[in-house]
Amino acid sequence: MRDRGLIFTGLVLFLGLITFPVWYNLASGTSSKPPELKLPTTEKQCVAPTETMRMSHMEMLITWRDQVVRQNDRTYVAADGKRYDMSLTNTCLKCHDNKAEFCDKCHDYAGVKPYCWDCHIDPKLVQRSKG
Ligand code: HEC
Ligand code: HEC
Ligand code: HEC
Repeated sequence: MRDRGLIFTGLVLFLGLITFPVWYNLASGTSSKPPELKLPTTEKQCVAPTETMRMSHMEMLITWRDQVVRQNDRTYVAADGKRYDMSLTNTCLKCHDNKAEFCDKCHDYAGVKPYCWDCHIDPKLVQRSKG
């Protein structure tokens, strides 16, 4: 049965090919796992439940902007009654003080490029450029 060797070789090649994505990821150290985010260390909770934030922080930010710019209303009252200043830099980035390892990391992964930073400030970068 000379065919046996041939069949076996074919089988190995086939398995190698169909599992290629798996061991390629292992070997190259990349994977399709979501990125590891640097969460705030001093605070436990966001301005809304984590799941809500993950899904709709973009709509929330646009609502905040409209409230501030159009209604001159700067106070956000969270579901738990806590009050926050509706501010991208002074509120979101006060807790999420590592924009690069939080906002940017997830946006890079998701392929999103918010244009907000053309005008709004990442306090960390300002500090750094001041030396
Ligand atoms: C009082 C501090 C605080 C403020 C202010 C705050 N966050 Fe958070 N945020 C957190 C913490 C802590 C977590 C992680 C909660 C957890 O582990 O469940 C979080 C989680 C998140 C998540 C989900 C991350 C994930 O794991 O998927 C997003 C997105 C987010 N915040 C965006 C924002 C944005 C945008 C703002 C401003 C509108 C904001 N946060 C304001 C503390 C804050
Ligand atoms: C867990 C992942 C994750 C984190 C963390 C995260 N974002 Fe996002 N963000 C997204 C995704 C995904 C979108 C695109 C959603 C869509 O297009 O519907 C987005 C969109 C946005 C948008 C709208 C951009 C546009 O052009 O439409 C803004 C503004 C934004 N994020 C701000 C922030 C800020 C500020 C932080 C950090 C405080 C942050 N995000 C953290 C995942 C994240
Ligand atoms: C062309 C410049 C510009 C761009 C781009 C821009 N903003 Fe603003 N934004 C402003 C100005 C000016 C104000 C008014 C500041 C004030 O009254 O405190 C403001 C106010 C805000 C506020 C409320 C006040 C505060 O301190 O944050 C939020 C929230 C906000 N913008 C979110 C966003 C988001 C989210 C994006 C991106 C999707 C964005 N902005 C893009 C200029 C800009």
